[in-house]
Amino acid sequence: DWTPASFVTETVAHLKQQIGDHQVIMALSGGVDSTVAATLIHKAIGDRLHGIFVDNGVLRKDEFEKVLHTYRQLGLNVKGVDAKGLFYGELKGKTDPEAKRKVIGKLFIDVFQEESQQIAGVKFLGQGTIYPDVIESVSVHGPSQTIKSHHNVGGLPDTMHLELVEPLRFLFKDEVRKVGLELGIPADMINRHPFPGPGLAIRILGEVTEEKVQLLQAADDIYIQELKKHNLYSTVWQAGTILLPVKSVGVMGDERTYEYTVALRAVTSVDGMTADWAHLPYEFLAHISNEIINNVRGINRVVYDISSKPPATIEWE
Ligand code: XMP
Repeated sequence: DWTPASFVTETVAHLKQQIGDHQVIMALSGGVDSTVAATLIHKAIGDRLHGIFVDNGVLRKDEFEKVLHTYRQLGLNVKGVDAKGLFYGELKGKTDPEAKRKVIGKLFIDVFQEESQQIAGVKFLGQGTIYPDVIESVSVHGPSQTIKSHHNVGGLPDTMHLELVEPLRFLFKDEVRKVGLELGIPADMINRHPFPGPGLAIRILGEVTEEKVQLLQAADDIYIQELKKHNLYSTVWQAGTILLPVKSVGVMGDERTYEYTVALRAVTSVDGMTADWAHLPYEFLAHISNEIINNVRGINRVVYDISSKPPATIEWE
């Protein structure tokens, strides 16, 4: 019988055998899968697992510090790399969504490779691949891939000669969560919504600048905190804000304003393949709208996305 406890015991034993006394490097994203995979590997080989967590400048507000803190609490050997400036520099002037994804994917690999060269004798690459990713990558050259190129570490060049360590390869998401809780990972880390690799860059339509990131981070933080406060966070599959590339007129006191619009997105879904817009209470939406407009200078209008997937997608880019 499969139980989280027996899975942990068997997997740790297997990892010890597979890795021996070698070193493992792994990119951590703050997401559920990579955190659970890293914690398992760490349980097997301790600090010979070298985690790399990159601040690409398009994470959520305070995410880099908060997630690093959680990793430290879990005892993981993780290096935080602040590469914000590098990413903002390369994103400058890029407006096409795929171009933005490419920049982020490529820079990420550059940073990761550079970091891995600092560690002597790395033989393995840890990854948080789960079973649905395995199935999806089989059809990677199918039509779905031409719609959006999903960024992950799978694009690491073969020249790194690393063997893969993927302890979650046969698990579904709900099983990964159970294993995570079994390992003592905090519940709020385990129950996080999915967040795309290219982060807020694909939620800022058009060119990404540091100023726009800060604006969107502020709005997003209000939205997510309030969803949690009102016990709505766990009722939706994914939520976030999108900064639209339009400004519109508003009034503040006697002044006419001309500022950005933010769209709120929240969906219910099982696996992200199809999704329905979440029927959040009007009172809650009204509250969020006021909170954002009153607290985030530069945003004077909030709209709610009522499109389902298909034909819309969850992200706007
Ligand atoms: P869409 O927008 O395709 O999103 O309906 C489905 C799920 O995939 C996530 N997503 C991405 N994740 N890199 C990622 O790592 C990407 O480029 C990317 N695009 C979309 C999205 O957040 C949702 O969970």
